[in-house]
Amino acid sequence: MHRLKACVLLLASLAPVRAEDTCARCHPSEAAAFEHSPMGRSLGPPSVFTEGRIVHKLSGSTITIQRRGALLEHKLEQRGVIAKYSVAYSVGDGIVGYSYMVRLGRYLYQSPASYYTQTKSWDLTPGYETEAHLDFTHQITSGCLFCHTGTVNFIGGTTNQFGDPPFTAISCERCHGSPAAHLKNPVAGSIVNPVKLAPSRRDSVCEQCHLEGEVRILNPGRDWWDFQPGQTTESVFVTYLRTAAPGTLRAVSQSELLAQSQCARQSGGRLWCGTCHNPHAGEPDRAQVVRRVCLSCHNDLFAAGRHQAAAECVSCHMPRLRPTNVAHSAVTDHSIPRLPRAQQPEAGDANPELKAWREPDPALARRDLGLAYFDRAANTHTAPDLQEAYRILSQLPPQQRQDSAVEADLGSVLLAQGQTDFAIRMYMRASTQEPTNARYVYCLGAALERAGKMEEAVKDLKRSIELDPSRPDAYLELAQLYRRAGHEAESRNALREYLRFMPQNIQLRLPD
Ligand code: HEC
Ligand code: HEC
Ligand code: HEC
Ligand code: HEC
Ligand code: HEC
Ligand code: HEC
Ligand code: HEC
Repeated sequence: MHRLKACVLLLASLAPVRAEDTCARCHPSEAAAFEHSPMGRSLGPPSVFTEGRIVHKLSGSTITIQRRGALLEHKLEQRGVIAKYSVAYSVGDGIVGYSYMVRLGRYLYQSPASYYTQTKSWDLTPGYETEAHLDFTHQITSGCLFCHTGTVNFIGGTTNQFGDPPFTAISCERCHGSPAAHLKNPVAGSIVNPVKLAPSRRDSVCEQCHLEGEVRILNPGRDWWDFQPGQTTESVFVTYLRTAAPGTLRAVSQSELLAQSQCARQSGGRLWCGTCHNPHAGEPDRAQVVRRVCLSCHNDLFAAGRHQAAAECVSCHMPRLRPTNVAHSAVTDHSIPRLPRAQQPEAGDANPELKAWREPDPALARRDLGLAYFDRAANTHTAPDLQEAYRILSQLPPQQRQDSAVEADLGSVLLAQGQTDFAIRMYMRASTQEPTNARYVYCLGAALERAGKMEEAVKDLKRSIELDPSRPDAYLELAQLYRRAGHEAESRNALREYLRFMPQNIQLRLPD
């Protein structure tokens, strides 16, 4: 979902001691309620064992989901070639559904099969629909886990290799921050309590995961896991939204919707996620909790016959929406409209402007915005976004252009424009600044190949594979390069190398 970027990470402190146990001694009810909530069960061993079958016409593949003893097996078949994996983990607690991860050595991949609660059926995982070859090749990224886990056990210096166990479900510190000071001195005030923070810092606690936006951009040298409750998200990363026409139903995040409500806008920051959702309240009758919340502000609502008496407020003012941009999803209308909105699909404008949810430090605003346009262009392949990215990034002051992310993105735009030599220069700078970034080295190799510099290209593509043997692109590029140069044996060798890493790869084993 998100490309891997900076590689700076916190590591050793993520020992798999469950913070919950430490906290539960003194806060048994808070700990128990949270652990039974969907967030406390955000991922774990597979829980749904329903069998099923998915047929994907575009790739001509079939996925069969079968139970094998205590294991859940996902079996993929395309033209007689079969790949079978046991599911290692499932993501989600079934509000919408579950996605699954398989493990290959130190790496985790997303299964193309997901289970959907509403239809009680299996279907493709979002993002796989348009693939010509289904496979277990979508890597689980740091960004994905940032929203679904508590702590992550990365192997020294990597962003995609995992120790055992690889992670924990969402845990106390994701909303309360480091407990160190509190455990030394367990009193009120020695640990973050979101409810006591200023509005933007308070809201950031939930937004770190609940506001995905169109793209999120890390500030220079930052990693997702740098974010600590008590900060604003902008001190680590910036979320960009598209500026949709008002009233369209594309917005899928509760944060964006709530921000549109008159209730939030006209009550000076008093209304926030925690007003209606207390992660420690167990499973209350939410309709009644919400009614009390509504009436705490609209206390004279029923006076003088202004409004019919009502036993709950949600059915008319917070109905379920079915956004058209995400299959199988339903989101509650957190914009609290006067009248339920007409469920119209999004209006035309395919390429509206990006806008920061909150602006970062002014010195970073243009840099982050330029990178955001680039990321959107990379996701959706739109030329105007690429041009906008280039316009913004190439006009940055010189010292800001010496940022590896900026250099790499400029390199990619230049490569797309056929300015190979300039692109090479940019990728060289980026990979000198971040010598262990396999993507930058891969891009450099690909650019060198376009410039006809075969030997150097081979060297960098191989270096990229050494840095990260899990990325198929470098092997495939290398194989193609050899083939074009007429070196068939070397070409087959490069593919065999990849099969050594991923022995069940479907595409490489398909008969010609
Ligand atoms: C030795 C007992 C003890 C342990 C262990 C402990 N706490 Fe506390 N905690 C307290 C006490 C006492 C208070 C203050 C309660 C009060 O004033 O009502 C408190 C208050 C809090 C508050 C509210 C802070 C505020 O300013 O409003 C939070 C949040 C909290 N603890 C979280 C945790 C978490 C998370 C852990 C585990 C990492 C933890 N506590 C471990 C004793 C403990
Ligand atoms: C570390 C990421 C993360 C943080 C921080 C986070 N959430 Fe969540 N939240 C999730 C995920 C993931 C789910 C979906 C859980 C599932 O089904 O697996 C979720 C589900 C929910 C749900 C729906 C399930 C339910 O309990 O009714 C609510 C409500 C919710 N979160 C509220 C909040 C609020 C309020 C905050 C801030 C105080 C917050 N979340 C902070 C990731 C997070
Ligand atoms: C920006 C944070 C973010 C990222 C990145 C993200 N998710 Fe989520 N995801 C959420 C939140 C929040 C929810 C709950 C949303 C809701 O119910 O409105 C969710 C819901 C889900 C659900 C449904 C859970 C349920 O109980 O129905 C699955 C499955 C899921 N995500 C898988 C993934 C996978 C796999 C990735 C990475 C490839 C990923 N997500 C990336 C935040 C994120
Ligand atoms: C998804 C975010 C989130 C997670 C995760 C979370 N909390 Fe909280 N916690 C909150 C919020 C929000 C409040 C403030 C609730 C309120 O007063 O409205 C809170 C309040 C508290 C309090 C103070 C209660 C009081 O009555 O003042 C304690 C203690 C606490 N949490 C402990 C924990 C422990 C222990 C864990 C891990 C098991 C945990 N929290 C996980 C969001 C979270
Ligand atoms: C923190 C206070 C607060 C809470 C809580 C609150 N509101 Fe509001 N609400 C307001 C304010 C302020 C306005 C704007 C002035 C007005 O219309 O009274 C408003 C406006 C509205 C409107 C008119 C919106 C429009 O677009 O004209 C509706 C409908 C509404 N609220 C319903 C609700 C419902 C239902 C709830 C509970 C789900 C709720 N409110 C919770 C403060 C609040
Ligand atoms: C005025 C009350 C209110 C506020 C404020 C509020 N919610 Fe909700 N939320 C609801 C209601 C009502 C539901 C639907 C309840 C149900 O189905 O159990 C809901 C459902 C959800 C769900 C489940 C998925 C969905 O959309 O149905 C998530 C996740 C969620 N809210 C997150 C948030 C976040 C994040 C915030 C802050 C940006 C927030 N909520 C603020 C009332 C509120
Ligand atoms: C059966 C549907 C229904 C239910 C249930 C309902 N409302 Fe309404 N409400 C409406 C309609 C319709 C309007 C708009 C009336 C108009 O604009 O003429 C409205 C208007 C409002 C307004 C704006 C009033 C004004 O004078 O501007 C508020 C505030 C409000 N509702 C709050 C609530 C609260 C709080 C609850 C729960 C106790 C609730 N509503 C339950 C249908 C409902």
